[in-house]
Amino acid sequence: MEQYAIKGGTRLEGEVTIAGAKNAALGILAAAVMTDDEVVIENVPYVSDTRTLLKAIEGIGATVRYIDRHTVSICGKGIAHDDTLCVDDEYIRKIRASYYLIGALLGKYKYANVALPGGCDIGARPIDLHIKGFETLGANVEIIAGGKIVARAEELVGSHIYLDTVSVGATINIMLAAALADGKTTIENAAKEPHIVDVANFLNSMGANIKGAGTDVIRVRGVEKLHGAFYSIIPDQIEAGTFMAMAVATRGNILIKNVIPKHLEAISSKLIEMGAKVLEYDDEVRVMADGKLKATQIKTLPYPGFPTDMQAQMAAALALADGTSIVTESIFENRFRYVYELIRMGANIKVEGNSAIIKGVKRYTGAHLEASDLRAGAALVIAALAADGVSFIDDIKYIKRGYEDFDDKVRNLGGIMQLVTSDEEVKKFKEDYK
Ligand code: UD1
Repeated sequence: MEQYAIKGGTRLEGEVTIAGAKNAALGILAAAVMTDDEVVIENVPYVSDTRTLLKAIEGIGATVRYIDRHTVSICGKGIAHDDTLCVDDEYIRKIRASYYLIGALLGKYKYANVALPGGCDIGARPIDLHIKGFETLGANVEIIAGGKIVARAEELVGSHIYLDTVSVGATINIMLAAALADGKTTIENAAKEPHIVDVANFLNSMGANIKGAGTDVIRVRGVEKLHGAFYSIIPDQIEAGTFMAMAVATRGNILIKNVIPKHLEAISSKLIEMGAKVLEYDDEVRVMADGKLKATQIKTLPYPGFPTDMQAQMAAALALADGTSIVTESIFENRFRYVYELIRMGANIKVEGNSAIIKGVKRYTGAHLEASDLRAGAALVIAALAADGVSFIDDIKYIKRGYEDFDDKVRNLGGIMQLVTSDEEVKKFKEDYK
C-alpha cells in the first residue's frame, strides 16, 4: 500500500526545479534504438513511465545504462531483428508510449511486434491514425492474437499523410518511421507540441532530416542510417504547470526553475485571469497569488492551446475561485473523473457533457481520495494541499508515472506531504496532524 498523506492549509513558498519532459523523453528513448551507435540522453525524468520504457528497450536486447539518475546511455546494436523481436513484458502494456517502439523499430528494421498500449484511462484513445500513417508508408499492419501490433514492410517509402485529428502520438510515430524511409514524407495537420519539436531535434542530431516540427506541416526526408548522439531533453511543461496551479490554489509564491516560459503561456494567461501574478525570466517563472481568486473559462486544445494535461489541476484551483468557471475538455472524453473526488472535498462542480461547471467555494475539506489517472492525481494533490485538514490519496502509482520526487518537492516548498506505506505510518500522520 502506498498513499500520499497530506495536511493542507499551508501557503507553498520557495523554489522548485522542474524535471525533463516525460512525453518528450518517451519519444526520444524509443528513437534512441534506431541507431546501432551509442546515444547519451540527459535530463531524462526519473519517473515510472521512463523506467518502464527503458526496461522494455533492454528487454529486446538494447544496452541501457544509467550514467547518473537523469542521464541514460542506450545502444540499440544488440536488438534481435528477426521474428523473435517482440516487445511484450508485463510492464509495457501499462504505458501508452510503448507505441513509439512501433515507429522506431519499423523504421530501423522494417518490422515491429509490440504489445498494444495501455496508459491512463481517459477515453477511447484509438491508434488508427498511427496505423494509417504506417500503411501509407508501405507497411502492412495487423493486430494479432494476444493484443499485439505487427507492422512489416518490404520497404518504407516516403509519402503524403494527412492526419484527420491532430495527434501527438501519431505525429511522433510517423516521424520516427519516416526518418528511415526512402524519400520524402509530408505530415499535414501535424501536432505542434513542444515535445514534437524535441523529438524531431533529437532525430536530427542523429542524422535525420526533419523540417517544420512545431508547425502543422512536417517534412521528413528519409536517410539511410542514423548515428550516435548526445542530447538533453526539454523541461516538462506539465510538471511546471502543476506547480504553477499549486502556487495559486495555496495562495503561495513559488519560483519554478528550469522551464521554457514560452511553453507555459497558455497556462500563465489563465492564472493571470484568475488574479495571480506570473513573472517570466529566461528559464524560470515566479507565480504568486494572495487573497481572492477569480473565475475564468478554459477550453483544452492542441498546442498552442490550453493543454488537456493541465485541465484537472486548473479545475482544482478554480473550484476555490469567486464565481462560476467553465472548463471544457475537447481532446479526451473521460477526463472528469477527478471531479467526484473534489466534490467529496466540498467543491461545487457539475459535469455536463464535455464541460465542468465550477461554482467556487471558500475551502476544501480533507478526505480519503483516489487518483484515477496521472493528472487527476496531481489535481487531488493540489486540492489536498489547499484543504483544511488531512487527506489521503490512494492509487498514487498513476502520479508516479509522471512526477519525479513529487512529495520531496512539495515538502521543500513548505507543504506537508508524505509517502506512507503502512497502517502505522497512516496512524502516525493522523496523530501528528490532528
Ligand atoms: C499525448 C500525451 C498525453 C496528452 C495528449 C494530448 C504522450 C505519451 N501522451 O497522448 O499526455 O494528453 O498527447 O496532448 O505524449 N486520436 C485518434 N486516433 C489516433 C490517435 C489519436 O482519434 O490514432 C485522438 C485521441 O482519441 C484524442 C486526440 O486524437 O482525442 C488526441 O490524442 P493524441 O494527441 O494522440 O494523444 P496521445 O498521443 O495519446
